[in-house]
Amino acid sequence: MPDESFKRTLVTSALPYANGPVHIGHLAGAYLPADIYVRYLRLQGRDVVYVCGSDEYGVAIVMQAMQEKVTPQEVVDRYHPMIRDSFKGFGISFDNYSRTTREVHTETSQDFFRRLSEKNEFVLKREEHLYDPEAKVFLADRFVHGTCPICGYEDAYGDQCEKCGTSLSPTEIKNPRSTLTDAVPELRPTTHWYLPLGQWQSRLEAYISSHPDWKPNVLGQIGAWFTDGLRDRAITRDVPWGVPVPPEAADAAGVESEGKVIYVWFDAPIGYISSTREWARRKGDPDRWKLYWQDEDSRLIHFIGKDNIVFHTLMFPAMLMGYGEYVVPDQVPANEFLNIEGSKLSTSRGWAVWLHEYLNDFPPDLLRYVLTSTLPESKDSDFNWNDFQTRVNSELADILGNFVNRALTFAEREFDNKVPPLSSPSAADEAALAELAGYPQQIGAAYERFRFREAARLTMNMARLGTKYFNDQVPWVTRKTNRSQCANTVHVSLQIAAALSVLMDPVLPFSAEKLRGMLRFEGVRSSLPDSDHSEGIGWSEAASSPLPAGHVLGHKEILFHKVTDDTIQTQIEKLESNDPESGPPYVEAKPTISYDDFAKLDLRTGRILSAEPVPKSKKLLKLQVDLGYETRQILAGVAEHFQPEEMIGQSVVVVANLAPRKMMGLESQGMLLMGEDREGCLSLISSGSEEGSIIC
Ligand code: 2FM
Ligand code: ZN
Repeated sequence: MPDESFKRTLVTSALPYANGPVHIGHLAGAYLPADIYVRYLRLQGRDVVYVCGSDEYGVAIVMQAMQEKVTPQEVVDRYHPMIRDSFKGFGISFDNYSRTTREVHTETSQDFFRRLSEKNEFVLKREEHLYDPEAKVFLADRFVHGTCPICGYEDAYGDQCEKCGTSLSPTEIKNPRSTLTDAVPELRPTTHWYLPLGQWQSRLEAYISSHPDWKPNVLGQIGAWFTDGLRDRAITRDVPWGVPVPPEAADAAGVESEGKVIYVWFDAPIGYISSTREWARRKGDPDRWKLYWQDEDSRLIHFIGKDNIVFHTLMFPAMLMGYGEYVVPDQVPANEFLNIEGSKLSTSRGWAVWLHEYLNDFPPDLLRYVLTSTLPESKDSDFNWNDFQTRVNSELADILGNFVNRALTFAEREFDNKVPPLSSPSAADEAALAELAGYPQQIGAAYERFRFREAARLTMNMARLGTKYFNDQVPWVTRKTNRSQCANTVHVSLQIAAALSVLMDPVLPFSAEKLRGMLRFEGVRSSLPDSDHSEGIGWSEAASSPLPAGHVLGHKEILFHKVTDDTIQTQIEKLESNDPESGPPYVEAKPTISYDDFAKLDLRTGRILSAEPVPKSKKLLKLQVDLGYETRQILAGVAEHFQPEEMIGQSVVVVANLAPRKMMGLESQGMLLMGEDREGCLSLISSGSEEGSIIC
């Protein structure tokens, strides 16, 4: 049951980078489990604050901006609302969702930097870094590319070769070039701040060994880091996008602060603190954040994916201990990765299910349930659409939805849509109620141990209990032979449904609310933030027959609609069509033009009279085209696609008013329209009308 040794809990989910939409892997890793956990705590009446926000700095965002030819600010301004809305659509119930580009975060990060610097927790290192003499900036590893010294791949990044996977340093690669200007980078001296993590090793080992209850996958990874020996970590960068190094800290160190920013992995976890400060300000109690971060009765829990373990279990704790006054993470229930249809999730290959797209097609609870049932809690797991369909149809619809529907149908038909009384309960009635009463504790114990899959299974077992009990009691027989027994059956079934409507809330919050509406079950504690969690019927009371006899029920609805084979097939095809390996991308759509722009084109039907190669050109054919009212010489870049004799006699569409131009010394007096598919294959376009006809 709840860990009563703490008065309050602060829960965080990894701050997602605001350089793209969020996908199903994000949801399964750090957001869904955290949301389920905080909803459970709120229903328990515990004091919990759940914070997150967009991670808006870092080289990845600068790279994205360069690719899109926009500023980093424009990139994050585009993705932050998109990410926030996807989380909202899935019911991820943050108390606060912030952004690291906000002032409160700059203040908090700079305060951390200043304090650690004053406490001599950093070391400074003078070192040689690559510098772009044309752009006059130091080059982050990702801004250098060149030839991989291992496999010879010519477009390896400064920090990694994407071909052979080797981790590189930008000074190792051959023929290095700046991705900004293509200039050859020079080595120039620069000074950076480091967090000497090696000096923290014994303190961190002591800290980690006081948490033997952490998940084996987390402890395993930390153990490997300790065995290798912790190394100094650079915590500043020479890039123009990030929280600036506080000038006074730079002055004190005798370093020019201009152009130096705090490394994104130093400021991002501080984002949890900034987000809590923002929450406290919004609540009108600006110091309230301190209770969650600086009071020893507060418990700090970070939900993350496995790629973030080192930062949350070693680097951030060292920063918090180095600062002093702060609590350190008490649990870091990191998840492994989620694969899709048996293959690794890859955003560059489009092998992902995007949350905003999913929400256009299905209700959020279906995915919440399916993912909770298959979370990568201890090893990588797989999401596939057929499994999604099976779990939705045969568990949510056939077991949970069907049980609730049968109980409500009987109440409506046989008992005037009211909860019938329970009188002289049979052994079976009492056994069902006793079994039901054990579920808050059982499911709660699974949540307390961060075993979400088990909790989802136990939750569905409540509906299985209901189904079995209902079937065994044969109310469709007793309705005629023994009204009081039939009433008992419906009474007990409705109590199971009511308990479900609370205990399923963490995993299925939207359906739980709908079910409470169908039962007209009021006075239940909310699992959402900004409500009083000490009031109402909560987790522990939910399974103790909360509906009194005579209670008038609400209107019955279908709780879960089944998912058809066609719908699933569409999703599978969509996934496959995203994958560039199944075909090159479509050329991006051009900007809209006005009708007047279009009307300027004089398009005509023509017929090719003759076709011959153009000397010294691999691409061009010289055509004579009959436009009805005159014959034109047109040079067409089709020689690699058509033999001259194939062209003769073909009907074509000609842009007849294109200004003549010279190619290979010959004049071209128009242009043929062609179709070009994604593979670059050309086909002729014919109008079927006589030569000279206008195309409009
Ligand atoms: O891996 C990531 O997506 C990072 N943006 C996570 C940051 S977690 C925290 F430290 F803020
Ligand atoms: Zn290589």
